[in-house]
Amino acid sequence: MGSTAPPEKKPSVLFVCLGNICRSTMAEGVFRSIVEDPTSSYNDLIGNIDSCGTGAYHAGYDPDSRTLSTLRSNGITSYTHTARQLRDSDFKNFDYIFAMDRSNLSDINQRQNQKKSSGGVNNKTARVMLFGEFSGTDRSEVVQDPWYDDGDEGFKKAYEQCRRFSKNFLAATFPDVPSTTT
Ligand code: 4NP
Repeated sequence: MGSTAPPEKKPSVLFVCLGNICRSTMAEGVFRSIVEDPTSSYNDLIGNIDSCGTGAYHAGYDPDSRTLSTLRSNGITSYTHTARQLRDSDFKNFDYIFAMDRSNLSDINQRQNQKKSSGGVNNKTARVMLFGEFSGTDRSEVVQDPWYDDGDEGFKKAYEQCRRFSKNFLAATFPDVPSTTT
């Protein structure tokens, strides 16, 4: 018999930014690369993984080319995504919703509260927080929006943050799993 948890027990994770083409896709690509790597100690421990935007400006678009090139230069070559907007069902379908910055967090919280007050969220509702709560220090971090940057420095920084936050989240969620192989 395999030793993996049954699917319904696996935590599901949704990454959210404004446009769903830069930061949340970076986070999803990085996080997937860790948990879907067959040699990773976290392989097969996570349920559904997705990303979306609070806005719909880029719905239907591929990730920003600078996100994809930053992922590629870090060995992540297979990530694809089609941008979509946050929906009410995300609050019941995901265990964790990670915002990239405080504006995203405020927008998500507002949406979740509207849903609660209209009776739309019942027994299961996502834990919404800044992804940067997992900074590894006593201060949470935000992933700054790199969309308006000329080059890719902001994307490189977002990559580094997303990898660090992912590893810290996984270590906190699975304290008995050795993290050395990620
Ligand atoms: P993201 O970046 O929220 O990290 O995907 C942005 C992408 C597009 C826009 C803003 C932020 N925009 O205004 O079009």
